[in-house]
Amino acid sequence: MATKLAPDQQSNPAKELLDGLNEDLRGEFQAVIMYRLYASMVQGPYRQELRTFFSSEIAEELAHAQILADKISAMGGTPAAEPSPVRVVHEAKAMLETALKAEIETIERYVKRRTQAEDAQEHGLAAQFDDIIADETNHRDELRQMLARWP
Ligand SMILES: [Fe+2]
Ligand SMILES: [Fe+2]
Repeated sequence: MATKLAPDQQSNPAKELLDGLNEDLRGEFQAVIMYRLYASMVQGPYRQELRTFFSSEIAEELAHAQILADKISAMGGTPAAEPSPVRVVHEAKAMLETALKAEIETIERYVKRRTQAEDAQEHGLAAQFDDIIADETNHRDELRQMLARWP
């Protein structure tokens, strides 16, 4: 006789997606805080430009958080209320490197999440991930461009 798995041990695409979306939401809250802190803290000859750049990221990350929180709630889940840990650094170059690392990890998560959304029959969400992935890719590319000829 086959052993029956308890409900929480069964493979459940919607549950996996929900858990993943909450991980993503914590990541977006982290990004909002990170860019806010870096914009305020950055010092040195490039402060004005970097402050403008970091500040400009906040609205897009918040828009991503809105999409995620709305979807988590619509799927019957509870949106995460805490960010992933924020790395506080003090040198402008370290800020750019830390942000670049975070954006690369974020893109990897969203590529995986888009597949999970398809598996869970959430095709509209999967389409929204295309726009989010495009945004995060722009963030990554701009950070790389700034770091490319850093003295
Ligand atoms: Fe984002
Ligand atoms: Fe981003």
